[in-house]
Amino acid sequence: MPRVLVVDDESDVHYSFERLFARKGIEILSATSGEEALECVDSDHIDLVLMDIRMSGLSGLETLKRLKDRHPKIPVIIMTAYGSTQTAIESMKFGAYDYILKPFDVRKLESLVEQALSLSRTMHQVVHFPLAGHLPDRGEGIVGKSEPMQEVYKQIGQVAPSNVTVLLTGERGTGKELVARAIYHHSRRAHKPFLPINCAAIPVDLLESELFGHEKGAFTGAHYRRIGKLEQSNGGTVFLDEIGDMPLPTQAKLLRFLQDQTFERLGGAETIRVDVRLIVATNRDLGRLMADGRFRPDLFDRLNVVRIHLPPLRERKEDIPLLVDYFLQRFRDELGRNVRGLSRSALQRLMAYHWPGNVRELENRLKRAVVLTRSGTLTPEDLFRDPDESLELPAAGDAREKIRRHIREIFRTLNTSPSAEAWLPLLEKEAIVEALRLTGGNQSQAARLLGINRNTLRNKIRAFGLRQPGS
Ligand SMILES: Nc1ncnc2c1ncn2[C@@H]1O[C@H](COP(=O)(O)OP(=O)(O)OP(=O)(O)O)[C@@H](O)[C@H]1O
Ligand SMILES: [Mg+2]
Repeated sequence: MPRVLVVDDESDVHYSFERLFARKGIEILSATSGEEALECVDSDHIDLVLMDIRMSGLSGLETLKRLKDRHPKIPVIIMTAYGSTQTAIESMKFGAYDYILKPFDVRKLESLVEQALSLSRTMHQVVHFPLAGHLPDRGEGIVGKSEPMQEVYKQIGQVAPSNVTVLLTGERGTGKELVARAIYHHSRRAHKPFLPINCAAIPVDLLESELFGHEKGAFTGAHYRRIGKLEQSNGGTVFLDEIGDMPLPTQAKLLRFLQDQTFERLGGAETIRVDVRLIVATNRDLGRLMADGRFRPDLFDRLNVVRIHLPPLRERKEDIPLLVDYFLQRFRDELGRNVRGLSRSALQRLMAYHWPGNVRELENRLKRAVVLTRSGTLTPEDLFRDPDESLELPAAGDAREKIRRHIREIFRTLNTSPSAEAWLPLLEKEAIVEALRLTGGNQSQAARLLGINRNTLRNKIRAFGLRQPGS
C-alpha cells in the first residue's frame, strides 16, 4: 500500500486527505511541521510527500531542500495558497515534483498524486538484468537468454556506470523503456531522480517549455514562470522517449544542451547550466527522418554515442518460453488466478506467430488469456481469440496497423492531455491532415480511419480551411 506523508500546520487538511485517499488504498501519514516531516521520512518508508509551502517554524522551501538532500527520490508535491505561488514555482528548482493550488481541484489533486506515485515506483523498483546469469524471483527484470539479448546486457553493463548519452532503438514493445530504467538503476545516479518525458504525448508547442521551462509572459497564456524538467531533475537522469517525434526547433535547443549542458528558459535571458544524463529512445527510423529533413543529423550524431538496439521478438523466438514463464508467474501473483501453464499446441502457436507488437503484445495476450481461461491450462483459443489473427500477417496489414496506431495515438493524446480543451482543435486538425495524407486524400477511407462519418469529416475540412489535393 503506497504511503503518502501530508505536511501542513492546519490539521483539517490531514483529515480531508484521509477521507479522499483511504478508499483508494493509499495510506496517509501526517506531520504538522517541517521538522516533524524530516523525522518521519528518515524513519519511515514514504512514497510521496505533499507539503504546504507556508508553515511556521522550518519553512516549506527549507524543508524541501533538506528532504531532497537526504531523499532525492521521494517526489514532493507543494501545496500553495494563491499568495505564495511564486515560492511554489521556485521550489521546482529544488526538485519539487509539481505544485497545486489551494483550495484543491480534487480531480487534479488525485491525478497528480497518482502520477507522482507511479514515478516514485519507477524510481524505486529496480529493473534487474541477467548479467550474473540469473534473475531474482521477485520484482521486475529483463528476460531473455538469446544471443542478441546477451549483447544488450553487455552493453547495458558497459554504459550504465558512465554518464554517456544512450540512444535506444527498436520496434514498439521491444523493451526500450525497461532498458532505460535498467541503465538508470545501475548507474552512478541511481540514488538521484529519474524523469521520463514522452515527446509524442505532449503537444508540440508545449514540449519545449516542458523541457526547458519558460518565463512569465514568454507567450500568450504564460502567466507564471515555469521550471522545466531539465532544471527540475538536476543531478539526475532524464529519459526522453519517442525522440523521433520531437519538433525541429526543440531539437536545436536540445543539441545545444548536449553540447554544453546549458539552455535558456523560453523568453528568458539567463543561461542555466544543469548536470543531467540523457537516455533517449525511439521506435522510428531516424535515418529516414533525417533523409526527410525531420530530424537533425548533428543532433543524431550527438545522441548516437552509444546505441543499444532492441531486437524484435520474432528474431529471438527462443526467448518466448522464458518470457511466458516470467509473465505467467507475475499474473498468477497479481491476478490471483491459478494457471498452471500452456498446452503444447498453444506454445507452438506462440512460437509460430510473428509478433508485430513484440514483448508487449505477448504480455497482453497472456494477461488476457489468464483472465479469460476456463481451465488451468491456456489453449491456442485463449491466446488468439480472433480466428482472423493469421499466423503470417501480410505486409499491407502491417502498414495499416501502423497507421491505425498513429491515429489512435493522436486521439489518445486528445483525451488525456491535461489542457486538452485548448489543444483539441489543433490536434484534431493534425489528425485529419495525417489521415488524409495516409489515405492519399481519400475522404471515405480517412473518415473510417478517424472513426467519424464522411459528412463530419467534410465539414471539418471546410471549417479548418484545409485544401484537398485535386480540389
Ligand atoms: N525482455 C523483457 N523481459 C521482460 N519484460 C519485457 C521485456 N521486454 C519488454 N518487456 C515488457 O513489455 C512491455 C513493453 O516494454 P517497453 O515499454 O519497455 O517497450 P518499448 O520498446 O518502450 O515500446 P514502445 O516503443 O511501444 O514504447 C513492458 O511491460 C515491459 O515490461
Ligand atoms: Mg516505450
